[in-house]
Amino acid sequence: MANTVLVTGGAGYIGSHACVELLQAGYKVVVVDNLVNSKTESLKRVQKITGKALTFYEIDVRDKEGLADIFAKESISTVIHFAGLKAVGESCEQPLNYYHNNVYGTLVLIEVMCDANVRQLVFSSSATVYGESVHAQYSEDFPLGAINPYGRSKAMIEDILRDLSAADKLTQSNNPWKIALLRYFNPIGAHESGMIGEDPNGIPNNLMPYVSQVAIGKLAQLSVFGNDYPTRDGTGIRDYIHVVDLVKGHIKAIATLEGEKFQSGGCHAYNLGAGRGYSVLEIIETFEKVTDKKINYKFSPRRAGDLAECFANPELALKQLNWKVEKSLDDMIADAWRWQLKNPQGYS
Ligand code: NAD
Ligand code: UD1
Repeated sequence: MANTVLVTGGAGYIGSHACVELLQAGYKVVVVDNLVNSKTESLKRVQKITGKALTFYEIDVRDKEGLADIFAKESISTVIHFAGLKAVGESCEQPLNYYHNNVYGTLVLIEVMCDANVRQLVFSSSATVYGESVHAQYSEDFPLGAINPYGRSKAMIEDILRDLSAADKLTQSNNPWKIALLRYFNPIGAHESGMIGEDPNGIPNNLMPYVSQVAIGKLAQLSVFGNDYPTRDGTGIRDYIHVVDLVKGHIKAIATLEGEKFQSGGCHAYNLGAGRGYSVLEIIETFEKVTDKKINYKFSPRRAGDLAECFANPELALKQLNWKVEKSLDDMIADAWRWQLKNPQGYS
């Protein structure tokens, strides 16, 4: 019988793409989501794309009894934990909401997993957990030092999961935790069908959805935050990764958790990034080339909290997960644009 994966936050942007890959790889998929930042339409489309059914429970991961019931009903072997709030600015305004949702939500989830004896977990972490560094290319052993409540919620969860795994050694557990902390760089793009993609609420905070909405005429002009950074053209450089490449990393992570490396348990962090960065101007240029649309932009002051340059060292993921990105920036933009064109109002 196929293994069952519980996907928390499975109706969201990355979660819905993960559901497609999991179903296509032959897993049974159970989604829990409270729909705070998503719609069930994404899951309908996941099933349309794959021609396979999944099971959906509309609950909050902080609902311990509800979650325990699901573990009792479904024979779950692994959890991929995407559920969380993710807007940096909002996290500064509502820190308690972010810690409660992200940190407490994860505590409840792992308590329920303990009770159900399910100890295999893939966690959505973020490059945002790293502190500022003199090197723009980040390796997993770089010091951590998140600078906002969202980032700190991810760093706290990483600490909790490392402590949980360390405790197995002390208690000589015969069913030790197997945990992959996946630190995403900048996921963009959409499924190549154009049926699922990123559906931000209101005005997007992130570059790619903002550019797409300028191109389609929903927003008038892009502000390029800073053109005086010490980078090749003065604008910020990031490691953009196709969301489908990203979710394939999760499938590889599950296989790795089930393999020799994790035989006696463990908790390890992996960067999921391409290993190269593009500047904001390079993104605009490539967008214009791929879509044949002009992007109206102006230079604005730097955004508080932004780094000049940040990209992944993805070697550990290649070595231990046997994973690397396959798609190009052109692919990411073409797919993001197809999704935008086919769904100008997102899922609504
Ligand atoms: P998203 O908002 O599209 O998806 C998150 C999903 O979790 C949503 O469907 C939301 O309704 C659900 N959710 C939130 N809190 C919940 C709760 N308490 N109980 C049940 N469901 C809940 O975001 P995404 O971009 O798909 O991100 C997925 C994960 O990846 C998040 O944890 C995010 O922090 C992390 N991440 C995202 C990015 C990015 O750029 N998108 C980068 C790094 C890390
Ligand atoms: C942001 C979050 C980070 C999160 C990541 C997820 C902040 C400070 N950081 O990272 O915690 O993990 O998203 O993808 O919000 N830009 C513009 N104009 C815009 C929007 C962005 O010029 O309207 C620039 C930014 O200055 C940056 C680049 O585009 O140089 C990418 O920005 P964005 O997509 O917001 O991602 P990050 O800042 O890397």
